[in-house]
Amino acid sequence: MDYFLKTKRLGFRHWTTEDFPLALALWGNSEVSARIGGPFSPELVRARLTREIRLFEQWNIQYWPIFLLEDHQHVGCAGLRPYAANEAARELGFHLLPSFWGRGLATEAACAVLDYAFGALGLDTVVAGHHPSNEASRRILGKLGFEYTHDEFYEPSGILEPTYVVRKTQWRPKQR
Ligand SMILES: CC(C)(COP(=O)(O)OP(=O)(O)OC[C@H]1O[C@@H](n2cnc3c(N)ncnc32)[C@H](O)[C@@H]1OP(=O)(O)O)[C@@H](O)C(=O)NCCC(=O)NCCS
Repeated sequence: MDYFLKTKRLGFRHWTTEDFPLALALWGNSEVSARIGGPFSPELVRARLTREIRLFEQWNIQYWPIFLLEDHQHVGCAGLRPYAANEAARELGFHLLPSFWGRGLATEAACAVLDYAFGALGLDTVVAGHHPSNEASRRILGKLGFEYTHDEFYEPSGILEPTYVVRKTQWRPKQR
C-alpha cells in the first residue's frame, strides 16, 4: 500500500469514497464512539467520511486512516482538523479500534502527526481535547508534552472537555 507517512509500526494514507466499510467498522463501533459523541448511525458515519475527504481537499489535513505496516490491518485514524477558536492552530485526534488498544499505537500515531504538523505542514500550534473520563487520552497528551489550557464546550458530546496545547518550540515528547 502507498503510505504518505510511516512510523515503526504504522502507515498513514488518505480516506477515499471506497472506504465506507472501514469507516463504519471504526466510527460505527460503540466502544470507539463512546467518548467522542457517539453512537453514530451508518448515515452519520457516511457524513463523517465525506467530511474527512473534503477536509483534505480544502485544508490538506484529515484524521487519516492508519494501518499496521506488517499486515495492512486497519487500526483506526489519527490526524488533524481545523480549530475554530484559532485559525492558525489545528486540533489533534486519534480513534483506534478496540483490538489495537493498549499497545502504544495511539501514542506512536500521535507523535508522527505532530512531527508532520510541525515539519511538513509548518504549523506552530496544535491543540487537543478529550472527554473528562478518557484517562488514556489524558495520559497520551501528557506524554506528548501537551499542557492544559482550559475547558471547552465540545458540541458532539455536549459537554465541557479539558483542552490542551503544544507549540512547536515546546514539543518534547517523552516517548517517540
Ligand atoms: C484513547 C485511545 C486512542 C488510546 O489508544 P491506545 O493505543 O490504547 O493508547 P496508548 O497505548 O498509546 O497509550 C495509552 C496510555 O494510557 C494509559 N491508560 C489506558 N487506559 C487507562 C486508564 N483507564 N487510566 C489511566 N491510564 C490509562 C495506558 O497505560 C497508556 O499509558 P502508558 O504508555 O504510560 O502505559 C483508544 O482507547 C481509542 O481510540 N478510544 C476510542 C476513541 C477515543 O476516545 N479517542 C480519543 C479521543 S480524545
